[in-house]
Amino acid sequence: MKALVLAAGTGSRLRPVTHTGAKQLVPVANKPVLFYALEAIAAARVTDVGIVVGPSADDIREAVDDGSHFGLDVTYIRQEEPLGLAHAVQVSQDFLGDDDFLMYLGDNFVGEGVAHVAAEFRRQRPAAQILLTAVADPTAFGVAELDAEGRVVSLEEKPRVPKSDLAVMGVYLFTSAIHEAIREIKPSARGELEITHAIQWLIEDGRDVRSTISTGYWRDTGNVADMLDVNRHVLDSTVVDHRVAGDVDADSRLTGRVHVAPGARVVRSRIEGPVVIGPGAVVVGSRIGPHTSIAEDCEITGSDIESSIVLCGSTVRDVPAIAASLIGRHTSVVSARPGETHQLVLGDHTRVTLAS
Ligand code: DAU
Repeated sequence: MKALVLAAGTGSRLRPVTHTGAKQLVPVANKPVLFYALEAIAAARVTDVGIVVGPSADDIREAVDDGSHFGLDVTYIRQEEPLGLAHAVQVSQDFLGDDDFLMYLGDNFVGEGVAHVAAEFRRQRPAAQILLTAVADPTAFGVAELDAEGRVVSLEEKPRVPKSDLAVMGVYLFTSAIHEAIREIKPSARGELEITHAIQWLIEDGRDVRSTISTGYWRDTGNVADMLDVNRHVLDSTVVDHRVAGDVDADSRLTGRVHVAPGARVVRSRIEGPVVIGPGAVVVGSRIGPHTSIAEDCEITGSDIESSIVLCGSTVRDVPAIAASLIGRHTSVVSARPGETHQLVLGDHTRVTLAS
Protein backbone atom coordinates (compact mmCIF):
# COMPACT_ATOMS: atom_id res chain seq x y z
CA MET A 1 0.00 0.00 0.00
CA LYS A 2 1.14 3.55 -0.78
CA ALA A 3 0.15 6.85 0.84
CA LEU A 4 -0.80 10.14 -0.80
CA VAL A 5 -0.59 13.27 1.34
CA LEU A 6 -2.35 16.35 -0.01
CA ALA A 7 -0.46 19.53 0.77
CA ALA A 8 -1.31 21.84 -2.12
CA GLY A 9 -4.26 24.25 -1.68
CA THR A 10 -4.24 27.88 -0.64
CA GLY A 11 -5.00 28.01 3.10
CA SER A 12 -7.19 31.10 2.68
CA ARG A 13 -8.73 30.86 6.16
CA LEU A 14 -5.28 31.02 7.78
CA ARG A 15 -4.20 34.23 6.05
CA PRO A 16 -1.95 36.13 6.46
CA VAL A 17 0.23 33.30 7.83
CA THR A 18 -0.40 31.29 4.65
CA HIS A 19 0.56 34.19 2.34
CA THR A 20 4.17 33.34 3.07
CA GLY A 21 4.09 29.68 4.04
CA ALA A 22 2.16 26.44 3.65
CA LYS A 23 -0.72 25.88 6.08
CA GLN A 24 0.53 22.32 6.53
CA LEU A 25 3.77 23.73 7.98
CA VAL A 26 2.16 25.87 10.69
CA PRO A 27 3.54 24.35 13.89
CA VAL A 28 1.50 22.97 16.75
CA ALA A 29 3.56 22.39 19.89
CA ASN A 30 6.51 23.61 17.76
CA LYS A 31 6.13 20.84 15.14
CA PRO A 32 4.49 21.33 11.71
CA VAL A 33 1.02 19.84 11.49
CA LEU A 34 2.14 17.87 8.40
CA PHE A 35 4.77 16.02 10.46
CA TYR A 36 2.06 14.46 12.65
CA ALA A 37 0.46 13.09 9.46
CA LEU A 38 3.77 11.66 8.23
CA GLU A 39 4.43 10.06 11.62
CA ALA A 40 0.94 8.50 11.60
CA ILE A 41 1.56 7.08 8.10
CA ALA A 42 4.90 5.60 9.17
CA ALA A 43 3.19 4.07 12.22
CA ALA A 44 0.67 2.41 9.83
CA ARG A 45 3.65 0.67 8.15
CA VAL A 46 3.29 2.54 4.87
CA THR A 47 6.63 3.84 3.60
CA ASP A 48 6.10 4.78 -0.06
CA VAL A 49 4.56 8.26 0.22
CA GLY A 50 3.64 10.82 -2.44
CA ILE A 51 3.17 14.42 -1.27
CA VAL A 52 1.05 16.60 -3.57
CA VAL A 53 2.47 20.11 -3.47
CA GLY A 54 1.46 23.47 -4.94
CA PRO A 55 2.92 26.97 -4.62
CA SER A 56 4.66 26.20 -1.31
CA ALA A 57 6.46 23.16 -2.78
CA ASP A 58 9.94 24.50 -1.89
CA ASP A 59 9.10 25.02 1.79
CA ILE A 60 7.58 21.54 2.07
CA ARG A 61 10.55 19.92 0.35
CA GLU A 62 12.93 21.77 2.64
CA ALA A 63 11.02 20.65 5.75
CA VAL A 64 10.39 17.01 4.79
CA ASP A 65 13.33 16.35 2.43
CA ASP A 66 13.41 12.72 1.22
CA GLY A 67 11.30 11.59 4.20
CA SER A 68 14.03 9.37 5.63
CA HIS A 69 13.82 11.29 8.91
CA PHE A 70 10.32 9.77 9.29
CA GLY A 71 11.36 6.36 7.95
CA LEU A 72 9.56 7.19 4.67
CA ASP A 73 10.50 7.31 1.02
CA VAL A 74 8.88 10.52 -0.26
CA THR A 75 8.08 11.45 -3.88
CA TYR A 76 6.86 15.01 -4.60
CA ILE A 77 4.01 15.47 -7.07
CA ARG A 78 3.25 18.90 -8.46
CA GLN A 79 -0.36 20.06 -8.74
CA GLU A 80 -0.25 23.36 -10.63
CA GLU A 81 -3.65 24.54 -9.37
CA PRO A 82 -5.80 23.38 -6.43
CA LEU A 83 -8.56 21.95 -8.62
CA GLY A 84 -9.89 19.54 -6.01
CA LEU A 85 -8.97 16.46 -3.98
CA ALA A 86 -9.90 14.10 -6.83
CA HIS A 87 -7.79 16.21 -9.21
CA ALA A 88 -4.86 15.76 -6.81
CA VAL A 89 -5.35 11.98 -7.13
CA GLN A 90 -5.51 12.32 -10.91
CA VAL A 91 -2.17 14.15 -11.12
CA SER A 92 -0.66 11.42 -8.91
CA GLN A 93 -1.60 8.52 -11.21
CA ASP A 94 1.95 7.74 -12.33
CA PHE A 95 3.10 7.54 -8.72
CA LEU A 96 0.08 5.48 -7.55
CA GLY A 97 -0.11 3.01 -10.46
CA ASP A 98 -2.67 0.32 -9.62
CA ASP A 99 -1.70 0.12 -5.96
CA ASP A 100 -4.04 0.49 -3.00
CA PHE A 101 -3.43 3.76 -1.19
CA LEU A 102 -4.15 5.72 1.95
CA MET A 103 -5.02 9.35 1.22
CA TYR A 104 -4.34 11.80 4.03
CA LEU A 105 -5.22 15.52 3.90
CA GLY A 106 -2.08 17.29 5.08
CA ASP A 107 -3.95 19.84 7.20
CA ASN A 108 -5.87 17.23 9.21
CA PHE A 109 -4.89 16.18 12.71
CA VAL A 110 -6.04 12.67 13.64
CA GLY A 111 -5.34 11.98 17.31
CA GLU A 112 -5.67 8.21 17.13
CA GLY A 113 -3.54 7.86 13.99
CA VAL A 114 -4.42 5.65 11.01
CA ALA A 115 -2.78 2.29 11.80
CA HIS A 116 -6.08 0.65 12.82
CA VAL A 117 -8.01 1.66 9.67
CA ALA A 118 -5.08 0.78 7.42
CA ALA A 119 -4.97 -2.69 9.00
CA GLU A 120 -8.74 -3.14 8.57
CA PHE A 121 -8.54 -2.03 4.92
CA ARG A 122 -5.64 -4.40 4.22
CA ARG A 123 -7.75 -7.30 5.56
CA GLN A 124 -11.00 -6.46 3.73
CA ARG A 125 -9.99 -4.40 0.68
CA PRO A 126 -13.30 -2.64 -0.08
CA ALA A 127 -13.20 -0.26 -3.06
CA ALA A 128 -13.12 2.65 -0.61
CA GLN A 129 -13.09 3.13 3.13
CA ILE A 130 -13.69 6.47 4.82
CA LEU A 131 -13.43 7.72 8.38
CA LEU A 132 -16.43 9.55 9.83
CA THR A 133 -16.96 11.51 13.00
CA ALA A 134 -19.94 13.31 14.52
CA VAL A 135 -19.56 17.11 14.45
CA ALA A 136 -21.68 20.02 15.66
CA ASP A 137 -21.72 21.80 12.27
CA PRO A 138 -21.50 19.31 9.39
CA THR A 139 -22.06 22.02 6.72
CA ALA A 140 -18.30 22.71 6.57
CA PHE A 141 -17.45 19.10 5.58
CA GLY A 142 -18.28 16.14 3.40
CA VAL A 143 -21.30 14.49 5.06
CA ALA A 144 -22.24 10.78 4.96
CA GLU A 145 -25.63 9.16 5.20
CA LEU A 146 -25.58 5.57 6.51
CA ASP A 147 -28.25 2.85 6.29
CA ALA A 148 -29.43 0.77 9.27
CA GLU A 149 -26.49 -1.64 8.79
CA GLY A 150 -24.01 1.23 8.80
CA ARG A 151 -23.28 1.10 5.03
CA VAL A 152 -22.62 4.42 3.30
CA VAL A 153 -25.61 5.21 1.10
CA SER A 154 -24.77 8.76 0.11
CA LEU A 155 -22.11 11.43 0.44
CA GLU A 156 -22.49 15.16 -0.05
CA GLU A 157 -19.84 17.86 -0.06
CA LYS A 158 -20.60 20.77 2.32
CA PRO A 159 -24.39 20.39 2.10
CA ARG A 160 -26.58 23.29 3.21
CA VAL A 161 -29.01 20.81 4.74
CA PRO A 162 -26.93 17.86 6.00
CA LYS A 163 -28.54 14.39 6.07
CA SER A 164 -26.58 13.45 9.22
CA ASP A 165 -24.00 14.88 11.64
CA LEU A 166 -21.29 12.51 10.33
CA ALA A 167 -18.43 14.47 8.76
CA VAL A 168 -15.93 12.87 6.39
CA MET A 169 -12.50 13.08 8.03
CA GLY A 170 -9.44 13.70 5.88
CA VAL A 171 -8.34 10.05 5.76
CA TYR A 172 -9.45 7.75 2.94
CA LEU A 173 -8.39 4.29 1.75
CA PHE A 174 -8.79 3.28 -1.87
CA THR A 175 -8.16 0.48 -4.32
CA SER A 176 -7.42 1.50 -7.91
CA ALA A 177 -11.22 1.54 -8.53
CA ILE A 178 -11.16 5.21 -7.49
CA HIS A 179 -9.30 6.19 -10.68
CA GLU A 180 -12.17 4.92 -12.82
CA ALA A 181 -14.64 6.89 -10.64
CA ILE A 182 -12.58 10.09 -10.96
CA ARG A 183 -12.61 9.77 -14.75
CA GLU A 184 -16.43 9.72 -14.63
CA ILE A 185 -17.12 12.79 -12.44
CA LYS A 186 -17.40 16.46 -13.40
CA PRO A 187 -16.21 19.54 -11.45
CA SER A 188 -18.57 20.73 -8.69
CA ALA A 189 -20.28 24.10 -8.38
CA ARG A 190 -17.13 25.45 -6.65
CA GLY A 191 -15.11 24.29 -9.69
CA GLU A 192 -13.32 21.40 -7.97
CA LEU A 193 -13.14 17.70 -8.80
CA GLU A 194 -14.49 16.43 -5.48
CA ILE A 195 -13.30 13.12 -4.02
CA THR A 196 -16.70 12.99 -2.31
CA HIS A 197 -18.36 12.79 -5.76
CA ALA A 198 -15.97 10.04 -6.87
CA ILE A 199 -16.85 7.98 -3.79
CA GLN A 200 -20.56 8.63 -4.44
CA TRP A 201 -19.98 7.31 -7.99
CA LEU A 202 -18.52 4.10 -6.51
CA ILE A 203 -21.60 3.72 -4.27
CA GLU A 204 -23.98 4.21 -7.20
CA ASP A 205 -21.96 1.72 -9.25
CA GLY A 206 -22.60 -0.88 -6.56
CA ARG A 207 -19.02 -1.04 -5.22
CA ASP A 208 -18.17 -1.82 -1.64
CA VAL A 209 -17.75 1.50 0.22
CA ARG A 210 -17.24 1.17 3.95
CA SER A 211 -16.93 3.58 6.82
CA THR A 212 -15.39 3.56 10.25
CA ILE A 213 -16.84 5.90 12.85
CA SER A 214 -14.15 7.55 14.92
CA THR A 215 -14.70 8.95 18.38
CA GLY A 216 -11.10 10.08 18.83
CA TYR A 217 -9.80 13.65 18.68
CA TRP A 218 -9.86 15.09 15.14
CA ARG A 219 -9.58 18.56 13.66
CA ASP A 220 -9.22 20.07 10.21
CA THR A 221 -6.67 22.81 11.05
CA GLY A 222 -7.93 25.04 8.24
CA ASN A 223 -8.88 27.93 10.53
CA VAL A 224 -7.25 29.69 13.47
CA ALA A 225 -9.66 28.45 16.17
CA ASP A 226 -9.13 24.81 15.18
CA MET A 227 -5.35 25.28 14.88
CA LEU A 228 -5.27 26.67 18.45
CA ASP A 229 -7.46 23.80 19.62
CA VAL A 230 -5.02 21.25 18.14
CA ASN A 231 -2.17 23.12 19.84
CA ARG A 232 -4.01 22.81 23.14
CA HIS A 233 -4.72 19.10 22.57
CA VAL A 234 -1.14 18.26 21.54
CA LEU A 235 0.35 20.21 24.45
CA ASP A 236 -2.02 18.43 26.86
CA SER A 237 -1.23 15.00 25.48
CA THR A 238 2.47 15.19 24.57
CA VAL A 239 4.03 17.60 27.05
CA VAL A 240 3.69 15.08 29.85
CA ASP A 241 6.88 15.85 31.74
CA HIS A 242 9.04 18.75 32.78
CA ARG A 243 12.04 19.09 30.43
CA VAL A 244 14.34 22.04 30.85
CA ALA A 245 17.41 21.97 28.58
CA GLY A 246 17.74 25.77 28.27
CA ASP A 247 18.59 28.29 31.01
CA VAL A 248 15.97 29.24 33.58
CA ASP A 249 17.11 31.80 36.17
CA ALA A 250 16.38 31.58 39.91
CA ASP A 251 13.79 34.38 39.70
CA SER A 252 11.57 32.42 37.29
CA ARG A 253 8.84 30.00 38.27
CA LEU A 254 7.78 27.06 36.10
CA THR A 255 4.59 25.26 37.04
CA GLY A 256 2.97 22.27 35.34
CA ARG A 257 4.59 20.59 32.37
CA VAL A 258 7.02 22.81 30.51
CA HIS A 259 9.61 22.10 27.82
CA VAL A 260 12.40 24.65 27.48
CA ALA A 261 14.57 23.71 24.47
CA PRO A 262 18.37 23.91 24.42
CA GLY A 263 19.62 27.46 23.90
CA ALA A 264 16.37 29.03 25.17
CA ARG A 265 16.49 31.46 28.13
CA VAL A 266 13.82 32.23 30.70
CA VAL A 267 14.49 35.23 32.96
CA ARG A 268 12.27 36.63 35.77
CA SER A 269 9.22 34.96 34.21
CA ARG A 270 6.34 32.74 35.16
CA ILE A 271 5.58 29.81 32.86
CA GLU A 272 2.37 27.85 33.47
CA GLY A 273 2.40 24.58 31.55
CA PRO A 274 1.64 22.96 29.31
CA VAL A 275 4.01 25.20 27.36
CA VAL A 276 6.84 24.62 24.88
CA ILE A 277 9.60 27.16 24.35
CA GLY A 278 11.76 26.60 21.26
CA PRO A 279 15.54 26.73 20.82
CA GLY A 280 17.09 30.18 21.10
CA ALA A 281 13.88 31.84 22.36
CA VAL A 282 14.29 34.43 25.12
CA VAL A 283 11.51 35.12 27.62
CA VAL A 284 12.10 38.01 30.04
CA GLY A 285 9.77 39.41 32.73
CA SER A 286 6.75 37.69 31.18
CA ARG A 287 3.95 35.29 31.98
CA ILE A 288 3.47 32.48 29.44
CA GLY A 289 0.78 29.80 29.35
CA PRO A 290 -1.06 27.67 29.75
CA HIS A 291 -1.44 26.05 26.30
CA THR A 292 1.12 28.16 24.52
CA SER A 293 3.84 27.30 21.99
CA ILE A 294 6.70 29.75 21.53
CA ALA A 295 8.83 28.80 18.50
CA GLU A 296 12.57 29.19 18.08
CA ASP A 297 14.35 32.54 18.30
CA CYS A 298 11.35 34.51 19.63
CA GLU A 299 11.90 37.37 22.09
CA ILE A 300 9.10 37.85 24.61
CA THR A 301 9.62 40.69 27.07
CA GLY A 302 7.29 42.14 29.71
CA SER A 303 4.29 40.38 28.19
CA ASP A 304 1.53 37.97 29.05
CA ILE A 305 0.56 35.27 26.48
CA GLU A 306 -1.85 32.36 26.89
CA SER A 307 -3.57 29.80 24.61
CA SER A 308 -1.52 30.97 21.64
CA ILE A 309 1.03 29.99 19.01
CA VAL A 310 3.96 32.31 18.30
CA LEU A 311 5.97 31.38 15.19
CA CYS A 312 9.74 31.66 14.85
CA GLY A 313 11.74 34.85 15.17
CA SER A 314 8.92 37.03 16.51
CA THR A 315 9.16 39.80 19.10
CA VAL A 316 6.47 40.60 21.66
CA ARG A 317 7.29 43.49 24.01
CA ASP A 318 5.28 45.03 26.85
CA VAL A 319 1.92 43.62 25.77
CA PRO A 320 -0.12 42.77 28.86
CA ALA A 321 -2.81 40.32 27.72
CA ILE A 322 -2.52 38.21 24.56
CA ALA A 323 -4.82 35.19 24.27
CA ALA A 324 -6.15 32.88 21.52
CA SER A 325 -3.67 34.33 19.03
CA LEU A 326 -1.64 33.01 16.12
CA ILE A 327 1.39 35.25 15.58
CA GLY A 328 3.30 34.65 12.32
CA ARG A 329 7.02 34.41 11.64
CA HIS A 330 9.33 37.38 12.28
CA THR A 331 6.44 39.49 13.52
CA SER A 332 6.74 42.36 15.96
CA VAL A 333 4.00 43.19 18.50
CA VAL A 334 5.04 45.98 20.88
CA SER A 335 3.18 48.40 23.15
CA ALA A 336 3.07 52.08 22.37
CA ARG A 337 4.19 54.40 25.17
CA PRO A 338 1.48 56.50 26.89
CA GLY A 339 0.40 59.31 24.58
CA GLU A 340 1.67 57.53 21.46
CA THR A 341 -0.71 56.34 18.75
CA HIS A 342 -1.17 52.75 17.55
CA GLN A 343 1.16 52.16 14.63
CA LEU A 344 0.29 49.17 12.45
CA VAL A 345 2.13 47.64 9.51
CA LEU A 346 -0.11 44.68 8.71
CA GLY A 347 -0.05 42.11 5.93
CA ASP A 348 -3.08 41.48 3.72
CA HIS A 349 -5.96 39.61 5.42
CA THR A 350 -4.54 40.34 8.89
CA ARG A 351 -6.89 40.52 11.88
CA VAL A 352 -6.10 42.68 14.90
CA THR A 353 -8.26 43.09 18.02
CA LEU A 354 -7.04 45.93 20.27
CA ALA A 355 -8.05 45.92 23.93
CA SER A 356 -8.73 49.40 25.29
O1 DAU B 1 -11.04 18.07 6.52
C1 DAU B 1 -12.01 17.19 6.03
C2 DAU B 1 -12.69 17.74 4.80
O2 DAU B 1 -11.64 17.94 3.81
C3 DAU B 1 -13.76 16.77 4.27
O3 DAU B 1 -14.84 16.67 5.19
C4 DAU B 1 -14.28 17.24 2.93
O4 DAU B 1 -15.18 16.30 2.41
C5 DAU B 1 -13.12 17.42 1.94
O5 DAU B 1 -13.56 17.93 0.70
C6 DAU B 1 -12.08 18.38 2.52
O6 DAU B 1 -12.68 19.67 2.60
P1 DAU B 1 -11.84 21.04 2.74
O7 DAU B 1 -12.63 22.15 2.16
O8 DAU B 1 -11.44 21.18 4.18
O9 DAU B 1 -10.55 20.77 1.85
P2 DAU B 1 -9.36 21.76 1.60
O10 DAU B 1 -9.60 22.57 0.37
O11 DAU B 1 -9.03 22.50 2.88
O12 DAU B 1 -8.16 20.76 1.28
C7 DAU B 1 -7.75 19.76 2.17
C8 DAU B 1 -6.26 19.48 1.97
O13 DAU B 1 -5.97 19.07 0.64
C9 DAU B 1 -5.32 20.65 2.25
O14 DAU B 1 -4.16 20.16 2.92
C10 DAU B 1 -4.96 21.19 0.89
C11 DAU B 1 -5.03 19.95 0.02
N1 DAU B 1 -5.47 20.19 -1.34
C12 DAU B 1 -6.71 20.78 -1.57
C13 DAU B 1 -7.17 20.98 -2.85
C14 DAU B 1 -8.53 21.60 -3.10
C15 DAU B 1 -4.68 19.80 -2.42
O15 DAU B 1 -3.56 19.26 -2.20
N2 DAU B 1 -5.13 20.01 -3.69
C16 DAU B 1 -6.36 20.58 -3.96
O16 DAU B 1 -6.70 20.75 -5.17
